[in-house]
Amino acid sequence: MSRRLGVLISGRGSNLQALIRAIQEGRLDATIAVVISNIADAPGLALAQAAGIETVTISHKGWPSRADFDREVAGALTAHQVDLVCLAGFMRLVGQPLLEAFPNRILNIHPSLLPSFPGIEPQRQALDHGVKVSGVTVHLVTADLDAGPIILQRPVPVVDGDTPVTLAARILEEEHRAYPEAVRLVLEGGWRIEGRRFVALRTTA
Ligand code: GAR
Repeated sequence: MSRRLGVLISGRGSNLQALIRAIQEGRLDATIAVVISNIADAPGLALAQAAGIETVTISHKGWPSRADFDREVAGALTAHQVDLVCLAGFMRLVGQPLLEAFPNRILNIHPSLLPSFPGIEPQRQALDHGVKVSGVTVHLVTADLDAGPIILQRPVPVVDGDTPVTLAARILEEEHRAYPEAVRLVLEGGWRIEGRRFVALRTTA
């Protein structure tokens, strides 16, 4: 049975689009049950609607506490009977109410080889540090920022003359391949967490 994804976005939605395409092309056996944005005019919402996917906007502003926002998001995901949550450029910290509602069932994609360059502007951080290789990480989300067990990583070269914009574009191409693969790996099941390690039953290679 096709599993139900909830995708959380804040902006452009190109990783959302990559998931939609992977499903349409039969590379990922899943259904996107709902796309939730904390930003009302996030361009990714229109991408979802064009694909016939239900969308919900839940602003992060105006709640008594961050936990209330998290509870609202968790409630919307649960109402749509979501099995797995994919953060796709969702620029909010995930708090306990959401983590408890979906234990080890929230994925994030980050444009660096974690634990290098967590947080904001990872491509600029990579250039500032002078690394020759950066890349993509897909990981399980925990209470610590960009620090959960790593599901999959892909290297991307840094070349002379790169700017944050050119490096981000090269990494993004790899993100669009990596995220559907990581989601497929998680949905296949048979994996376990050993300490910090995500141990898959078999590899995607
Ligand atoms: C992507 O590069 C994603 O990895 C990054 O934001 C971009 C969203 O693009 N996420 C983070 O930096 C999370 N810490 P998109 O909206 O086109 O998918």
